[in-house]
Parts: sequence; C-alpha cells; structure tokens
Amino acid sequence: MFHTDPPEPADPGRPSVDVTAAARWLDGQVLRTPLLRSPVIDRLVGARVLLKAENLQTGGSYKMRGGLYAVGRLAAAGHTGVVAQSTGNHAVAVALAARRHDMAATVVLPVDATPSKVARARGAGARVVLVGSTVEERLAVARRISDETGHPIVDAYDHPDVISGQGSASLEMIEDAERAGTPLDTLIVPVGGGGGVAGACLAASDRPIDVYGVEPVGCDSLAHSLVAGRPTPVRPAPTIADGLRPSCVGELPFDILRTRLRGVVRVDDEEIAAAFRLLLMELKVLAEPSGAAGLAGALCLAADGATRVVAGTAAPGSGSRPRTVGVVLTGGNVEADLVARLATPVLPRQGVAA
Ligand SMILES: Cc1ncc(COP(=O)(O)O)c(C=O)c1O
Repeated sequence: MFHTDPPEPADPGRPSVDVTAAARWLDGQVLRTPLLRSPVIDRLVGARVLLKAENLQTGGSYKMRGGLYAVGRLAAAGHTGVVAQSTGNHAVAVALAARRHDMAATVVLPVDATPSKVARARGAGARVVLVGSTVEERLAVARRISDETGHPIVDAYDHPDVISGQGSASLEMIEDAERAGTPLDTLIVPVGGGGGVAGACLAASDRPIDVYGVEPVGCDSLAHSLVAGRPTPVRPAPTIADGLRPSCVGELPFDILRTRLRGVVRVDDEEIAAAFRLLLMELKVLAEPSGAAGLAGALCLAADGATRVVAGTAAPGSGSRPRTVGVVLTGGNVEADLVARLATPVLPRQGVAA
C-alpha cells in the first residue's frame, strides 16, 4: 500500500526530529491541503494571508500527519498496537493510523471530550476510554494500559515523529507559497502542547520567516515557559478551543521553541469566535475553535502589533511589517450546536423601549 518504507523508529534516547523526512514519507499518505485566500481577510490583516486548510485533512485535523508518521514507524518496527491520550484530534488520528496499519488502538479521552471526536475515534475502530478532565489523569491511565498491553504510547506532542509529522503541514505551506511567488515572512500556528508550532519552527528554520504561536488566554503554558526558561505548567482556564488546553507545553517542543519562536500571541474566546465567523462567512470554511485560533492571532497581531506578543526570542526574519502571512487552520472537528452558537455574533438588543 505504501510507496516508500518508513524509516526506522528514532532512538528514544536520542530523539531526532526531521520534518523533511516526515514530509517525504507522508507525501501521498495525507492530503496536500490547499492554501486559501480571502480579500476581506487580507484587508483586515493588512497583508497577503495564506490559510492552510488542514480542517480538510483526513480525520479533520493536521494531527493526522504526526499520528500517521509515528504509528507507521511503530508498525514498521513490528508493534501490533498503540496507546494514545488526547482531548480528541490526536486520538482520532492515531485510531485512523492504526486501522491503516492493521494495529490495535486504545485512546484515552477526557469525560467532556466533544462527542463527535469520541465517535470518530470509535468509528475508526479504537477502544475509547473516557477519564477525568486533566492531561495528568489521562496519562496515568494511558501508562497503565501501555504496561498491561505492551503497546507503546504515541504522545500527542512530546514525540519526535509527531512533531516532524505536524511540521510537514508548515513545510508544504512554505514550499507552495514559494512556488506561487509569494514566500512567507510570517507563519502563525495554534499551540496546545507545542508539537505543531515546534515543527513549524523547524520547517522554517533556514528561511527568514518569523514563527508565532497562539495560545488561549489562561492556557498559556508556552508563554510562561518562555519567560521562565523551562516548561512551566498552568491550570488551564476554560476555553472554546478544546485542543489548546494542555496544562504544560511538551519538553521536546519547548527545547525546539525556546531559541526559535518569535513570540506568543494570546487570544480570548471572543477573538477566536470572530475568526471562526470570518472563515465561515468569507471562505465558507468550517474550522473548529482550536483551528481558527491562528487566524485570531494574525488579526490581533495586525491590530495591536508587538504589544500582543507576550514572549519571544530574537527575530529570525526582518521583524518589519509582514507582507505574506501563513496561517495553519489546524482542524475542523466541531459540534453542530457550537457551530450554531459561534456563527451568531452577539447582537445589540433590539426593540427595547427607552
Ligand atoms: C485542531 C488543533 N489545533 C491545534 C492543536 C495543538 O497542537 P499541538 O498540541 O501540537 O500544539 C490541536 C491539539 O489537539 C488541535 O486539535
């Protein structure tokens, strides 16, 4: 079925993150999703904005890339099953990847996981275990299941193959933008555990591209970690962006990000909802809140400039006003009732007598 053999699994003692190798292996295994444009969004951001539609990816999110690459390498090494924990999209990706490779999958999700993500993971044939609401609770159960079954855990972000796979979305966007004669100078990626944005930094590493991460207000472990100089947990605040609420950025992503990331932009639920509506109404694109957060960050950066950047490093790029901004729309798995709620902006009250 596969046109190339996956490379051998990375030595766990010496994690190697190689976005180019992952992109080569995933070529033909995942969709090369399109770059979308909207004149209205260009005007609002004050730059050419390219939106990488990973909401259209198999499984509905860019998590398919890291999941498929990591599981493919484990299958090649002879493993017959895998275990994963996540708020939803990584679990769906690992379940689908395991099915492609004829492997067993057990995925651990929070009790308040969105029903459609639970249904997608079950639909892909995984055993779904619902546990607690924190990443620590899920990890403890995933470790126990891994010990019992002997099946390895595929971490959602603290894993070299997952970071490499996620980074392939950014690499495709960088290459497609160059091919179109509009090279990126800015790249914006939503942040949960930091795997995707770490992969983006590596994908951009030999080019003058400023990479920004976007975190929901109160779920800003990466911002705190960059300031503290080490992974620093937060108690995640409630957010509509369910994929962006791990309590702590991963150690391996942080190691990559601390010297490469231009900065973090924090966005609130209102700003994410506004980005969601823009995508829906201007591009006819359905993103989930976590997937729309990158555009929310781009709009905030355009409106408020550097005052919105809460932590960062020396600029790898020009630091001047962006001309071409790439945004990864990371996913589109969203409940119908949330779509209805977000699609309706809060209107001023009408018909009330003075
Ligand atoms: C749609 C979506 N976007 C972004 C993220 C965050 O990715 P990462 O954990 O690699 O930072 C997730 C995580 O589940 C997600 O589901």
